[in-house]
Amino acid sequence: MSEPVIRCLWVGLGAVTGIMRPQLGPWHRAVGVVDPRPEARAAAQVAWSLPDSALFADLDRALAAVECDAVIINTPADLHFAQISAAIAVGRHVLAAKPVTNDFAEAATLVALARARGVTLSVGQQIRYNRHYRSVAAFLAAGGIGEAQAAFFMNSKPRPNPANLARSDQPALYENACHHFDSFLALFPDRTPEYIACDGFRPSWSTYVGPCMVNATIAFSGGLHLLYHGGFSSQAPMYEFRIEGSAGALRCRGLHMSNDTMGYEVAPALGQFASSAIDVGVEAQDPFRPFFAHWRDYVLGGAEPPFSGRNNLKVMAMLCAAIDSLAGDGRRVAIAGNPRYEAAFARVDAAAPSAR
Ligand SMILES: NC(=O)c1ccc[n+]([C@@H]2O[C@H](COP(=O)([O-])OP(=O)(O)OC[C@H]3O[C@@H](n4cnc5c(N)ncnc54)[C@H](O)[C@@H]3O)[C@@H](O)[C@H]2O)c1
Repeated sequence: MSEPVIRCLWVGLGAVTGIMRPQLGPWHRAVGVVDPRPEARAAAQVAWSLPDSALFADLDRALAAVECDAVIINTPADLHFAQISAAIAVGRHVLAAKPVTNDFAEAATLVALARARGVTLSVGQQIRYNRHYRSVAAFLAAGGIGEAQAAFFMNSKPRPNPANLARSDQPALYENACHHFDSFLALFPDRTPEYIACDGFRPSWSTYVGPCMVNATIAFSGGLHLLYHGGFSSQAPMYEFRIEGSAGALRCRGLHMSNDTMGYEVAPALGQFASSAIDVGVEAQDPFRPFFAHWRDYVLGGAEPPFSGRNNLKVMAMLCAAIDSLAGDGRRVAIAGNPRYEAAFARVDAAAPSAR
């Protein structure tokens, strides 16, 4: 039987499209591209053997002209709401880069629009499929340290060129913490984020306009308290993740969440750390590869993935609560249980077609 094909219109031909392109499978067919930069359109034309008629500088014209099943939107986040709405309105499945928008209410509106139109909405959050997080998830699920109740997470890197974040109000939260928060949800799937208290700052050497370094405490249900640091203005790479459970502790040390050179150590309760290769047997692969395998299945009518627009509302709730807390001098802001983020935690009948 031949592989079903998903005809894709690509919008925004910058860095993340370049990262995704090698991870697509035989199911993928590019049928059009949109970008205001002629050189980006020309490069995509060569890469995907497209005719001139498939190249557009404007999304509305492309949506009117191109027969496609899905629209993949990798533009700056402030364009997402209008572009995703336009694609859903004409009945296309949408995959949008993270953050799906910069605002929780907008994200919830997009989820509702997609449900009403009967199309899928997905968010390009692939980091939970890194070998590192898959290894830790498997270790925790197997009871490696018992019930997790304390976690200490630090991941910041020197990124002295703000590039696409030069004007961002919240560079660390939207660009970096969204992946971290999604990974926490992957590692602790039975826990619900209850509240966050957040502090943001800029070291004197920072080149960002917004708070490029963020410290926070995040409380999850089940008595799990997580101490968080993330950002872009450290002086050297920093990745350390320590999880303490009822039966012991796990320590992971490396360079960055996306770098697989991780060292793992495990200690029994009240004991000493010893090396433990918890990632043996977990395949190293680009996280967009398993991401796209799940996305393909979802678009073709399969299971809803963790990165559906609806599931991703939990990440948006955590981000927006963090921003509220920063704006409120670090006060504690409720996440689940906060009426503002109700759509993220509402129970939906998964059997209903509108749940897509
Ligand atoms: N998941 C990840 O690991 C990851 C990594 C990097 C970026 N991102 C996200 O991807 C998105 C894009 O980031 P990037 O790094 O690829 O940025 P980029 O600047 O490299 O690319 C953005 C592209 O969008 C194009 N564009 C601008 N306005 C447009 C419009 N109106 N219509 C169509 N195209 C338009 C630009 O010309 C550019 O080619 C952001 O939301 C970012 O947060 C995700």
